[in-house]
Amino acid sequence: MRPQDITKHSERQVCFFILGREKELCAQEVHSYLTRQGVDFVVLHDTTSLGYLLLSIPTEFTPHIEHVGGTIKWGVATLGQSGKSQIKKDVLRILTSCVVDDNLTFGLTLWDKAPKASDFMMRDIKKDLSDYSVRFLPSSKLISSRTLRKNKLIESSTDISVFIHGDNVYIGQTKEVQDVDAYTARDVGRPDRPLSTGIMPPKLAQMMINLAQVNNFHALLLDPFCGSGTVLQEAHLMGYKNLMGSDADHKAIDYTSKNLAWFKIPPEDFKLSQCDARKIGEKIPGTIGAVVTEPYLGPHREHADSYEIARINDELSSVYQGMINSVSTKLIPHGRIVMVFPRRSDTNRHTSMPFVNTKNLGLIELPSFIHYREGQNIARVIRIFEKV
Ligand SMILES: C[S@@+](CC[C@H](N)C(=O)[O-])C[C@H]1O[C@@H](n2cnc3c(N)ncnc32)[C@H](O)[C@@H]1O
Repeated sequence: MRPQDITKHSERQVCFFILGREKELCAQEVHSYLTRQGVDFVVLHDTTSLGYLLLSIPTEFTPHIEHVGGTIKWGVATLGQSGKSQIKKDVLRILTSCVVDDNLTFGLTLWDKAPKASDFMMRDIKKDLSDYSVRFLPSSKLISSRTLRKNKLIESSTDISVFIHGDNVYIGQTKEVQDVDAYTARDVGRPDRPLSTGIMPPKLAQMMINLAQVNNFHALLLDPFCGSGTVLQEAHLMGYKNLMGSDADHKAIDYTSKNLAWFKIPPEDFKLSQCDARKIGEKIPGTIGAVVTEPYLGPHREHADSYEIARINDELSSVYQGMINSVSTKLIPHGRIVMVFPRRSDTNRHTSMPFVNTKNLGLIELPSFIHYREGQNIARVIRIFEKV
């Protein structure tokens, strides 16, 4: 379906999206994913901090979970009735309709601020299903997507989420679960993984590509620090057909070339070039739809003092600024640069990032997002610059 076919007058349904670890980033990714496809969506409740989104979207639109790295599962919900016994009834009605040969395998998650009430309801539901041979996956705030897939819940039975917002109760059935193994295979399965320069997780690459909000699959999508080609690989999987990767290191170009061939990307869909990112604009004859990139983030030094960090940031600033200067004149109006910046903490726990000045380049900066794993001494800050 083309974006313009999804109009304000279409029939609507409530969809839920269960978000990954960085909730703000994952929620913004869903917004950007829908926006770039022209989907007219309405946020029903402010629930990002609770780890999910409830959106009203046209029924014609079906999300593709393999294109939304920050969503763990999504599904369709209906409005139920409030009150413990009514919710229980509604859930039981769905569950009993899924019984096959007296067998039922199901997952049930209650997204409620009162976990005690939830546990009580769970026990009740189990009791009411005692006539059947029931396999029940215990409630936690989130059933891991790995568990869901291992038990093939979506294919063979059902996974229910209940979202309680005062009197508004939504009973959701999962439609798709993130294929964690497929992401791992695309990451560790590649022929060339230069661990020394750092590899970005494919899920993060997808989130950043969605944040770029490119709605034309033939607009040029550029990664000027392409490393091993993660951004290009994921962008192609998401449908983009005009990709360009460049890197100062010829080895990175070789890695990317091998990896994209392994990924069976047709050569006409991408171009690779060995080039310093500060000069990349000169190599591009036309316009750039978006830049999505994780540049060199500097050395991973623990316990660096503020002088050392200032020195690293100065060095990185000059490369980042040079790249942004070089691409900014070629960016189409509203074209975005979505870029990872490293945020370091010094021995006094002061944090800082490389500085770039985008004021005179016709770029505005949009809100940024943190991507951080416990134990890492550099946090990734996803910054977004948009051409006015
Ligand atoms: C963190 S890696 C990119 C990782 C990549 N996103 C991936 O997942 O494979 C950074 C890359 O920047 C390249 N690089 C460093 N300085 C550069 C410069 N001035 N111009 C272009 N590339 C540069 C390095 O060779 C390295 O391949």
